[in-house]
Amino acid sequence: MLHHERLRPPSHDYPADEWNVIEKTFHPEFLAQSETMSALGNGYLGMRGCPEEGGPNAENGTFINGFYETRPIVYGEEAYGFAKTGQTICNVTGSKIIKLFVDDEPFWLPNARLLKYDRRLNMKSGTLDREILWETPAGKQVSITSRRLISFANRHVAAISYCVTLLNAQAFVVISSEMATNEASAGDSGGDPRLARALPGRVLHPRASYSKDRRIVLCHATESSRFTLTCATDTALESSSPHSCKVVHTADFGQVAFTIDAQPGCPLELTKYLVYHTSQTVSAEELCGRAEWTLDRVVTQGFRQLLASQQQYMDDFWRRSDVRIKDIREDRTKRSTVEIQQAIRFNLFHILQASARAEDTGVPAKGLTGQAYEGHYFWDTEIYLLPFLTYTSPRIARNLLAFRYKMLPQARARAKELDHRGAMFPWRTINGEEASAYYAAGTAQYHINADIMYALRKYVQATGDEAFLRDFGAEMLVETARLWLDLGFYSDAKGGKFCINGVTGPNEYNAVVNDNAYTNLMARENLRYATEVVESLRATELDAYNALVQKTALEPSEAKAWIHAAENMYVPYDEKLQIIPEDDNFLDKEPWDFRNTPADHYPLLLFYHPLNIYRKRVIKQADVILAMFLLGDVFSPESKKRNFDFYDPLTTGDSSLSSCVEAIIAAQIGDIDKAIRYGMAALLMDLADVGGNVKDGCHIASMGGTWMMLTYGFGGMRDDDGTLSFWPRRAPEDNAILRFPVTYRGQLLEVEIGLEKVEYALREGECLVIRHETEEVELTRENPLAVRTISRR
Ligand code: BGC
Repeated sequence: MLHHERLRPPSHDYPADEWNVIEKTFHPEFLAQSETMSALGNGYLGMRGCPEEGGPNAENGTFINGFYETRPIVYGEEAYGFAKTGQTICNVTGSKIIKLFVDDEPFWLPNARLLKYDRRLNMKSGTLDREILWETPAGKQVSITSRRLISFANRHVAAISYCVTLLNAQAFVVISSEMATNEASAGDSGGDPRLARALPGRVLHPRASYSKDRRIVLCHATESSRFTLTCATDTALESSSPHSCKVVHTADFGQVAFTIDAQPGCPLELTKYLVYHTSQTVSAEELCGRAEWTLDRVVTQGFRQLLASQQQYMDDFWRRSDVRIKDIREDRTKRSTVEIQQAIRFNLFHILQASARAEDTGVPAKGLTGQAYEGHYFWDTEIYLLPFLTYTSPRIARNLLAFRYKMLPQARARAKELDHRGAMFPWRTINGEEASAYYAAGTAQYHINADIMYALRKYVQATGDEAFLRDFGAEMLVETARLWLDLGFYSDAKGGKFCINGVTGPNEYNAVVNDNAYTNLMARENLRYATEVVESLRATELDAYNALVQKTALEPSEAKAWIHAAENMYVPYDEKLQIIPEDDNFLDKEPWDFRNTPADHYPLLLFYHPLNIYRKRVIKQADVILAMFLLGDVFSPESKKRNFDFYDPLTTGDSSLSSCVEAIIAAQIGDIDKAIRYGMAALLMDLADVGGNVKDGCHIASMGGTWMMLTYGFGGMRDDDGTLSFWPRRAPEDNAILRFPVTYRGQLLEVEIGLEKVEYALREGECLVIRHETEEVELTRENPLAVRTISRR
C-alpha cells in the first residue's frame, strides 16, 4: 500500500461526466468541500461556490488576488531577521447573495422540499449552473434556475442570472439581491499551520456607500496595507408579473428587493452584475467611478454577451490545453475513462481559474478558492504551475515571471538584511516581502531562487522570448547567482568542493541541513544559466550587456566565479547504496517507525513535534525524486530507479506536491502500476479529497502536477536539452489513448499516444523539429503528420 492509500476520508461522489462536476442532491455534510469544488475565479477575482441564497455556508469567501491586510507577526522569542509582517488575503465584500421568499417562506436549502436539485460546475462554458424544483410547504412548485460566471474576458466582472417560475399557482415573491462586507470570516486555524490566521477585528473600513436606481456601490479600505476596494452591483428584473422594488444601503450592506405578484408560468428573470475594483494608489472616489464605468458597459452588453465571451475564452483555452483520454473501443465508453477525463479537466479548469488574469500578482497556493496559506505565493507557481502555462498559455507564464521581476527590489533588500549578496526571493509572500513566520520550513528554503530561474529557462526555451530574458530575466539571474556564490563556500572538509550549508530542501521534514542535494543541483543550474546568459549577452548584444552592467554593477570576473562554483558543486553521493543522499546527514538518521505510526496520524506535522520529525529519516514530499524529474539528464535510468526505490518508501506524501512527481518518475522507470496509483492520487487530490482538506481550498500545485504527470510522465515528454522530445509510455488507463496539445515557439503540436503508435500533428505553425525517442522528426505545414511506433523499454 502506498502511503496516501492508508486512509481516505469520506468524500462526495460525483457522477462521471466529461465536462461537468455534478451534484444531484444537496449534501450539507459536504458543504465546505463543495464550496471549494464549485468555486469560480479568473485569477483576479474568486468566489467560493456557496449557494446564491447566501447560505448555508462554511466560508462565504470572495477574494481578490493580492488584496491583503498586514499584521505584525508575534514571536514568543524574537531573533534577528525574522519576518516581521504577516500578510493575509482578505475576505472582501460578498456580492453574490440572492435571497428568495415565496409567500414569505424563505427558500433555504437544508429544509426545502426539493423535487429536483442539479448543480454543476460546467467546465466547458466556465459557469456554475443550478436547476432546482422546490415545493413550498403550501404545495406551490417553484422552478429556480441560475447561472453564475466570473468573466475571463473582463477580470473585474462577475454576473448571475437567476430565474424563478411559479409552476402551479400564483404567489407573492420577494427576490432580494444583497451585498455584505465584514461578514464573519475563516475562524481560528485550530493549530493547523496550513490555514489562515483570522485577521482580528474589522478588516474593511467604510469609505463610501451609495445607490443610484438599482445600482449599489460600497467602497472600503484596509487600515494598514492601505488597499481600497469598490464593489458595485446592478440588478435588473424582467417579468410580466406586476412588481415593485426597494433599494437599501448602509456602509456595509446593500439590498435591492423586488416584490412580485408572480403569476404561474410567468418567469421572473433577475440578472445581477457584480464589479470589483481595487487599488493601493487611487482615491475612493476614483475607484467608485471606475466600478461604475465597468458596470455601465456590462449592463449595456447584457448577460448573454458575457456568456458568449466566456464561451469563446473557454473554447480557446481547451483548444490549447485540453488533455484527452479516450477508450480505444469507440462503442464502449468506460466509466473509469470518463472519470479520468472529468478529473483532468477539473484540474486544468481550476488552474485556469487561479491564473488566467493574475496580471500583476502571483498565484496563491489555493488559487482563489480559500483562505488557507493566507493567499500566499510559493515556489508552487514556478515548479508546478509554470510548466503547464508555459506550454499552453505562455502569455500567462510571462505575466507570472514578470511579477517575480517586480519583486526584485524587495528580494535585494531581503538579501542585504540577511547579509547576503544578490537577491533573495521570499519563501511565501503576497507583496514581495518575506511573510514566513517559521524560518526553518520557510526562509531556509533558499531553493526558491533557483526554482524561479529554472522556470525562466524553461519559459525562454519553449517560447523563444529572448526579449524577456534580456530585459528582465538576466537581471534576476545575476542577482540569484550572486546569492548562491555568497551562500556557499569551498570546503576543505569536502575536498575543496562548493558546499551550501544551513538550508531546507523541498522536504520540510528535514530542516536546516547541509548540502541538500536538490538545492545544490538546482543552484548549479542557476549558476550555469546565469553564466551562459551573461556571456552570450556580452558576446552578441553589447547594448543589453551594458544595460545589465548598469542595473547590477556586474563585474567582468563574476561570471567566471559562478561557473567555477557550479562546476565544483558538491553533490552528496553514497557509494554503498549508489544513491544521492537527500543531504549530508540524511543517511545517519534513524528511520521513521512507519509500522507503529497510526494511519490517522498523517500528516505527521499535525501530530508530532518538529524535532521528532527532523531527527528521523522521513520525507514529507518528493525532494531527490523531484530533482530527478526536473534535471532528468543528470540521472541515468538506472540511477533513477535506485533512488526512487530508496526514497519512495520513506515519502509520506504529506504534502499534495508529492504524488504527481512520484508518478512521473515511476512512469519513467517503467513502474506503471505505481505511476497509475500515484497519478490517480494526484488527479483526484481535490475531486475525491485525497488529502482530506479540500474544504480549505484546491491544491493548485498538485493540479499543475497532474498535467506534468500526464505529459512528462505518461506522455514521456522531455525538454532537458532544449529540444522538445518524447519517449511515450501509454495512457494512464488500459485500452485508452492519450492526446494533448503543446505550444512550442508559437506553434501548436498535438501528440496522440495510442497503444502501439504515437501520432505527432502540427496543428498550427510552419515547421517544428521534435525528437521521437532518438529520432529527429520534422513537421511542416505541408507534412504536418508523423506516426511512429512506440518502443517498449
Ligand atoms: C509544502 C510546500 C508548499 C506549500 C504550499 C507545503 O505543505 O510543503 O512545498 O509550497 O505547502 O503549497
